[in-house]
Amino acid sequence: MSRRRRIYEGKAKILFEGPEPGTVVQYFKDDATAFNNQKHDVITGKGVLNNRISEYLMLKLAEIGIPTHFMKRLNMREQLVREVDIIPLEVVVRNVAAGSLVKRLGLEHGQALPRSIVEFYYKKDELGDPLVSEDHITALGWATAQELDELITYAVRVNDFLTGLFMGVGLKLIDFKLEFGRFWEEEDMRILLADEISPDNCRLWDLKTNEILDKDRFRQDMGGVAEAYQEVAQRLGILPEISNGQMTEGESAEEDKTPTEETQDKA
Ligand code: TMP
Repeated sequence: MSRRRRIYEGKAKILFEGPEPGTVVQYFKDDATAFNNQKHDVITGKGVLNNRISEYLMLKLAEIGIPTHFMKRLNMREQLVREVDIIPLEVVVRNVAAGSLVKRLGLEHGQALPRSIVEFYYKKDELGDPLVSEDHITALGWATAQELDELITYAVRVNDFLTGLFMGVGLKLIDFKLEFGRFWEEEDMRILLADEISPDNCRLWDLKTNEILDKDRFRQDMGGVAEAYQEVAQRLGILPEISNGQMTEGESAEEDKTPTEETQDKA
């Protein structure tokens, strides 16, 4: 295995320098955190499932013309992506009241919203990712007004498309979080959908029973986290290669290893 420089380690992923300039290897860990890292656990197989689910969703979004950072999946836990400068915003789209929206505004949990709501949070762990307005974003220079328009347009298209896609497999897309990055090609800059789309950053409920099939199972100590993610993958029809987060045919144990010491350079 070649030596790779670690660029960044987040709560659920590690980024390594990619094989070509302008590329990055995104490694999916099994770690789960919640409440800004106060709660931490390892969910065996989560990284493998999220890698596969995110690949599937990013490819589907690319098919409808959403530009994404995704290039190809490399193995069970890694994907090759374009290197972007992450815009320091979490773009949340909500269809049904849940989570922090319920707490903040006293809405009824599970209440369908009259229309989809797009929110922005400033990505800053030290501050607990506070909710910010469009005026904060443009005044403080995190994104231009034109970029914000683009983010909203993409977020709404992603919501419309994913709502239908999940509904087709018996899941309700309650809300989700997206991240975007700036990608430079020579002098040109393009905004790409980045990070991941998986049950770590979506709320997904069973269409009939409202059973929770996302990271809320971890946040609320409900158990069955990996099983829920597996259920999502299975419904999307992408489980054949993975079962219980373990590899079956077509994937080697070599590819499932965690990053070795030699990869763990000082970032
Ligand atoms: P919230 O209701 O806690 O604000 O979460 C809204 C959506 O954003 C939900 O689908 C979970 C996702 N999310 C993240 O992906 N990362 C986070 O740090 C938080 C707080 C939420």
